Parts: sequence; structure tokens; C-alpha cells
Amino acid sequence: MMIVGVLGAGTMGAGIAQVAAQHGHKVILVDLNEKVLSTAKEGHVKVLGRLVEKGTLTQDRSQEILSNISYSTSTAEMSVCGIIIEAIVENLEIKHQVFSELESIVDSNCILASNTSSLSIASIGSALKKADRVIGIHFFNPAPLMPLVEIIPAVQTSTDTLNIAKELIDAWKKIGVICKDTPGFIVNRVARPFYGEALRIYEEGIADFATIDWALTHFGGFKMGPFTLMDYIGNDVNYAVTESVFASFYYDPRFKPSFTQKRHKEAGFYGRKTGRGYYDYSEGIALPEPNRDEELGREIFERILVMLINEAVDALFMNVASVTDIDLAMTTGVNYPKGLLLWADEFGLDNVLLKLEDLFAEYGEDRYRPNPLLRRMVRQNRLFHGRNED
Ligand code: NAI
Repeated sequence: MMIVGVLGAGTMGAGIAQVAAQHGHKVILVDLNEKVLSTAKEGHVKVLGRLVEKGTLTQDRSQEILSNISYSTSTAEMSVCGIIIEAIVENLEIKHQVFSELESIVDSNCILASNTSSLSIASIGSALKKADRVIGIHFFNPAPLMPLVEIIPAVQTSTDTLNIAKELIDAWKKIGVICKDTPGFIVNRVARPFYGEALRIYEEGIADFATIDWALTHFGGFKMGPFTLMDYIGNDVNYAVTESVFASFYYDPRFKPSFTQKRHKEAGFYGRKTGRGYYDYSEGIALPEPNRDEELGREIFERILVMLINEAVDALFMNVASVTDIDLAMTTGVNYPKGLLLWADEFGLDNVLLKLEDLFAEYGEDRYRPNPLLRRMVRQNRLFHGRNED
């Protein structure tokens, strides 16, 4: 069985190493920082211990998994790996150095993958002499629990590299979706309006945070409303993703970041981790109550839903991924209650289009322009799932 290298033992690297080890691979987990490595090891012992307590794993199995992972500060030890998944700091210059160094260590068949969320795989691969071995393998946090993995072939990637990566992700019992090397891949692109349109609705004074959150959970069945979710993710992290997607799309107004979020970030109101975000999480302070006006709530939910659907349709229009993979990505990567393209079929594509056209007419802003594919589907009376699907 292929030996798996994981470079970077932080949040993501430690999780990816655990997944590989649980599926029988010998794993070499490397980080420059000894302390990070020992924290990763302690984390593995603790998590697997908990699974033994719960009866999910036997003691022997847990020992076996732990013994599959070796922890090291030296990349030289990765020479025996069949694949290396890089999960270090999100910095292209550093990733270039590291990929070039790794290539000088491994043999010519070794796949060099990156877990990057925001850099293009093509740009990372440009550091390699044999660039057909580069690929994006993008896990979600926490890697051992989240089923989705976006697999991103770059323009340089060979079919062999893609097939091996896909087989590996299948063998790890993850849901692998294949997507084009475009900013935000599937999830971080399609999900933008969940945050952006909610912030816009707040900024216009249509409703407060609690009411918008209520609208999305009550009418949409989302597990968390946008403001609660941003407070979980952290406004620092969520804002950085928004900014990076906006810049990568050559400042397309659809992705314009919000001043409200920027100010919260600047104030250090990151969310739960700092005790305050959009909400105050201090002890003894009750969360604000929403205004449970049904008509207002439905209007807010539907405005955000059609914006999300428009983004999912755009991803399909631009061949970022297939109908199935776009829907799977949103239900398994960010736990949406339903795939957005299926949701569009059920809501009625004509209704989605009408709502977008109303918004576009009202605001005259490009961010509300309905996608051409949506117009075409309505004209041809087609559905994304089912009727007349190509
Ligand atoms: P982190 O900051 O928790 O861990 C990064 C680790 O890399 C640190 O322990 C650092 O010591 C180590 N490192 C830095 N330079 C190194 C080098 N040259 N050689 C070896 N180790 C080095 O970061 P995190 O959050 O785990 O992110 C890692 C990557 O995964 C980034 O590319 C990020 O965009 C991506 N990602 C992060 C997600 C998240 O939710 N945190 C989700 C999906 C992808």
C-alpha cells in the first residue's frame, strides 16, 4: 500500500494524516515545528482514545492506527512516499519552495498534492519540473469528520495522477468531487452569497442578524444562519476567503466583500473564539430574539436562496463541475439541507429567474444578473435533475 506523506501538521495536516492512517496507510507527517508535531500526536492519541471509549474502535485497532503514523521534522524522510499532501501555510512563494524541494527528494512517480483553499493548483505546479504530478486534494475541516474532498486537476495534471487521486479518496471512504482549477473551487465559490447577501440585507436595514439567521434556519432548514455560522468560522477567516475569491475573480461585483464584516474583523470581533462576533457570547448574556415576521422571513430566505442557486448555476455554466458534484459538494461540504440545483428544480426555475430579475431591476447591480444558463433552462422548460437533462 502506498506510503502517504503529509506536510504540515496543523489543523488540516493532522486530520488528513489520521484519515490516511485509519485506512491502513503508513503515514509520514512532517512539520518544521516540533511543538506542532507533538500537539498533532497528542491530538491523535486523544481522538482515537475517545473512539475506543465510545466502542467505535478496539484498543488494538487504535494502536495499529497510531503506529501507522510517524512524526518527523525532516522532509528527507518522505523520499519513500507514493503521494505527499501538502497542508502548510497559505503562501504561494513558500509552497513553491516546498514543492520544488519535495520533487528533489521523491521518485518520479510520486504525486504531489496540495490542500490549498485559495491558490491555483496550476500556480503551485509551476514550481515542478514534472508538473503532471501536481493535483489539488482539498479537504474540509475537520478532515476526519467531513466527507467531502474536492479533487482539482490543474492544466498540467495527467489523467494518471487524477485517477490515482480519485481512487485514493474513494478508498478513504470520502466523497470525492472533481472540479476545475478555478477560484474557491466549488464550495468556497458557490457558498459566497450565503454570507454576502445576508450581510447586504443587514446593511440595507431590512433585518437584524438574529432575524436573518432565523429566516434561513426556519424557512430554509439550514443548520445555522449566516451570522451564527460566520461567528463559528471566524470573521477573520471568512473575510479573508471572501476577499481572496473577490480578487481572484478580477473583482467581479458578485463577490464584493462587506464593510460590516470588515469592521467586525478590524474590531477583533471574530466570533465565538474571541467571545464576540455579530453576537455577544459573554456569560449571562442572552442571544437576541428574531423578529418572527413570516412574510419578512420568507422574503429574506428566498433572496439568499436564489442568489445561491445563481452561483451554483454559474459553476455549472462555466463547467467547474457536474450537476451531481455541485449538489454533493454543498450538501456534504457545508451541510446544506439540499443540493442547490435540486432546490432550484423544486422551487421552479421560472420562480428563481423571476426573483433574480426583480432584484436586478430594483438595484441595477451586476451582482443580481441572472445566469444565462438559467434563462436558457427556463426557455427550454428543462430541469437540472431529470427532465431533458443532457
Ligand atoms: P495551520 O497553520 O494549522 O498549519 C500549517 C502548518 O504548516 C504549521 O504547523 C506550520 O508549522 C507548518 N509549516 C509551515 N511551513 C512549513 C514548511 N515549509 N515545512 C513544513 N511545515 C511547515 O494551517 P491549516 O489551517 O492546517 O491550513 C493548511 C493548508 O490547508 C492551507 O493551505 C489552507 O489554505 C488549507 N486549508 C485549510 C482549511 C481550514 O479550515 N483551516 C480547510 C481546507 C484547506
